[in-house]
Amino acid sequence: MTEFKPLVFSGVQPTGNLHLGNYLGAIRKFVALQENNDCIYCVVDLHALTAQLVHEDMATQIRSITAAFLAAGIDPKKHIVFNQSQVPQHSELAWIFNCVARIGWMNRMTQFKDKAGKDREQASLGLYAYPSLMAADILVYRATHVPVGEDQKQHLELARDIAMKFNMDFAEKIRPTGLGIDIKVGDEPVHAYFPMVEPLIDGPAPRVMSLKDGTKKMSKSDPSDLSRINLMDDQDAISKKIRKAKTDPDALPSETDGLKGRPEADNLVGIFAALADKSKAEVLSEFGGQQFSVFKPALIDLAVEVLAPINAEMRRLMEDPGHIDAVLRDGGERARARAEKTMNEVRDIIGFVR
Ligand code: TYM
Repeated sequence: MTEFKPLVFSGVQPTGNLHLGNYLGAIRKFVALQENNDCIYCVVDLHALTAQLVHEDMATQIRSITAAFLAAGIDPKKHIVFNQSQVPQHSELAWIFNCVARIGWMNRMTQFKDKAGKDREQASLGLYAYPSLMAADILVYRATHVPVGEDQKQHLELARDIAMKFNMDFAEKIRPTGLGIDIKVGDEPVHAYFPMVEPLIDGPAPRVMSLKDGTKKMSKSDPSDLSRINLMDDQDAISKKIRKAKTDPDALPSETDGLKGRPEADNLVGIFAALADKSKAEVLSEFGGQQFSVFKPALIDLAVEVLAPINAEMRRLMEDPGHIDAVLRDGGERARARAEKTMNEVRDIIGFVR
């Protein structure tokens, strides 16, 4: 039994301002993972067309996500940073995956149901097929690990289903090419061309919640800007939003069990823990018994300390779009070479003439 070579892949859509949820759920993990892994980070601009076709500021949005990656500390020379539309192999593999995935699987996707809303007939076909393109993003590099927030879990399960069905359906064609690897899925031995991707969701803030309602996800589409901290917010805005964040009247508990049924307290402690690279238990051992009037100023100081340098560096980088475009072009070229290798192998497995 051999193993797939570990490779980290993840993507962020260039739609709206990045917020603390994107940073703690995804980008901060991207930065940590680059220490010991080969990583590919993608601005998924093709995905941005699924909910809204025309974007006035598409190029600026793509550059702004790239600037956030770099400002947070991703090294585009050691790793790969690029935008999805520069690598057409993503779309090509997505087409094949559209033929692998079953309509019943797509019908179960909760994000499609949420985003399509009541008038599903008017949603784009792209929004429906979105998770298939997401699977292709990952598997066109045969990536093994995907750091994301919890809201992407179901999409990654679908990516595993697609990989599994491809491996099973093409098993007799994969074996003679020598391109497959014997892996175990549960107890089942499988001769696989595509790996079973592992979601990396853990950490103290897998789902950062709205500052105004601890039962709702922090999101760029929330009409209230007070519900989220944007990566481009200045010190005053960060401070105001945390001061105004909803809480309950009780002091913080000393143990994590005491956060049950207190969504706002749980959220703020999770944010503190993620920003400080600590566990919630460690944060509570420091702040247990304290009122929010003590905890909130400490959280403001920490959030400003972590976010202000990223904010400043993003602004500096955005003043030189030529540099950002060069980073994306270089990353795109390297990504294309890897993706084309996979596509040639997939074409051979399927039996296309080339
Ligand atoms: P997107 O652009 O909506 O969000 C980018 C990342 O931020 C995470 N995230 C959160 N994490 C914690 N708390 C929150 N409130 C929160 N809000 C957002 C998301 O989970 C995500 O990790 N489908 C993806 C983009 C994508 C992708 C991929 C990801 C396309 N292809 C391949 C991984 C691999 C999305 O829409 O993320």
